[in-house]
Amino acid sequence: MKKIKVAPSILSADFCKMAEAVENLKAWGADIVHCDIMDGVYVPNLTFGMPMVKALRRYTDMPLDAHLMITRPERYVGQFCDAGADIVTFHPEACESEEEAHKALKAIREAGKKCGVAVNADMPAELALPYLDEIDMLVIMTVQAGFGGQSFKPECLKKAEFLKAEAPKRGLSFDIEFDGGVCPSNAAQCKDAGATVLVAGNAVFKSSDPASTVAAMQLPL
Ligand code: DX5
Ligand code: ZN
Repeated sequence: MKKIKVAPSILSADFCKMAEAVENLKAWGADIVHCDIMDGVYVPNLTFGMPMVKALRRYTDMPLDAHLMITRPERYVGQFCDAGADIVTFHPEACESEEEAHKALKAIREAGKKCGVAVNADMPAELALPYLDEIDMLVIMTVQAGFGGQSFKPECLKKAEFLKAEAPKRGLSFDIEFDGGVCPSNAAQCKDAGATVLVAGNAVFKSSDPASTVAAMQLPL
């Protein structure tokens, strides 16, 4: 039976114990490792870059999902693919131009990886329309990108419903990932809005029983 995939964000893990964090994620039954890359310019926070993805690649066979919250991501998508990311997503308005965003998606696909665009909480759903035919995954932010541990914004769910409706019209199929403040108590709401992948940082890493928390979000599709 197909289920929602759970992608815990290692932003909520202990940065001194990243190898242990990804080993735990496997043991807890998570599906994907979500890596939040922030540059202090697109978002007011700094995290880590390609070297961390490369290092984690040696410790896990789980898919690595690199969420680039950086300015002009087209400069770095190739390096994240080379570092071992399996999925690379970015915020298209952070690119120099729409043309650069299309080129970045093409570069990721040509590297044999999955690509996607992310719609930040303060951006309209229409932002993603020019890219739907080229993506494997649509990321709908349910918080303003920048920090883990923020409250879920249910008003963002309707963007996914709007964009999902485009798929049958255009004969497309792409994953829909919700990112930000997701936890077992809003997972069903996310599923109803079209989620196929759920990112959860604090909900998993701060849980007293992370395996049960992961399982509670792996809802049947
Ligand atoms: C926010 C990040 C999210 C976030 C997830 O900028 O993209 O991935 O850290 O963490 P929680 O689930 O704690 O909101
Ligand atoms: Zn993220």
